[in-house]
Amino acid sequence: MNDVTAHQSTTPLPKHIAIIMDGNGRWAKQHGKLRHAGHRAGVENLRPIIRATADLGVPYLTLYAFSTENWRRPSMEVQGLMSLLAEFLDHEVENLKNEDVRINHLGSFEGINPHLAEKISQAVARTRDCKRITLSVAFNYGGRQDIVTAVKQIVASGVSPEAVTEELISAHLSTNGVPDPDFIIRTSGEWRLSNFLIWEAAYSEYWTTPVFWPDFTPQLLKQAVADYGNRDRRFGGLNAKP
Ligand code: FPP
Repeated sequence: MNDVTAHQSTTPLPKHIAIIMDGNGRWAKQHGKLRHAGHRAGVENLRPIIRATADLGVPYLTLYAFSTENWRRPSMEVQGLMSLLAEFLDHEVENLKNEDVRINHLGSFEGINPHLAEKISQAVARTRDCKRITLSVAFNYGGRQDIVTAVKQIVASGVSPEAVTEELISAHLSTNGVPDPDFIIRTSGEWRLSNFLIWEAAYSEYWTTPVFWPDFTPQLLKQAVADYGNRDRRFGGLNAKP
């Protein structure tokens, strides 16, 4: 048992960790590199963190890779992020499949190059039977847009107002089938949700570190999860802990 897995027997584990991978640009600046190099370093950190999360025994991991608001960045940076996702999928889907990682996509294909959309769909299809961990990649994802899409589908289905419930709305979000995140981690010291899982995060616990995403380590993940284990989650009630 390695140092990361050793943790799981001692404290309660989150079932679903969601990470806002922030700070690639500042990491690049700190190293005298272009922003794209920061994003590339960020991609290189995906594998170790996915593996460490699976080793901890956490069955769901969600990563915020590209938001609906990220289109506001210079087109060169946007294209760079699209290419990095394509490259990541080309190189890593087989490895992830071998590690029993199921890939899921959150968000929309609107505005995404059809070749990239096809790669994403294929990654999802090729790993659909994997069981160890579900990795949801939020790419071209925005929480508000996801809710708007859900509401449009519900209205179009002709459902009566009385039949609209939290469960019905949840079932129409792109996170359908994935439990709400227990724990949201944001790197680079920012304290914002940035339109990430805004419906699903109603009772999530938060954790942030000043460390930029490319420098976020399995050891820090373990520290964060240990901190989660000490939280008293009451979900609006009393005495969740004995
Ligand atoms: C935030 O850093 C990061 C992003 C907007 C993208 C996150 C993406 C990755 C980690 C790599 C891409 C992953 C895939 C699979 C494509 P920032 O650019 O906002 O950093 P800054 O706030 O320091 O400028």
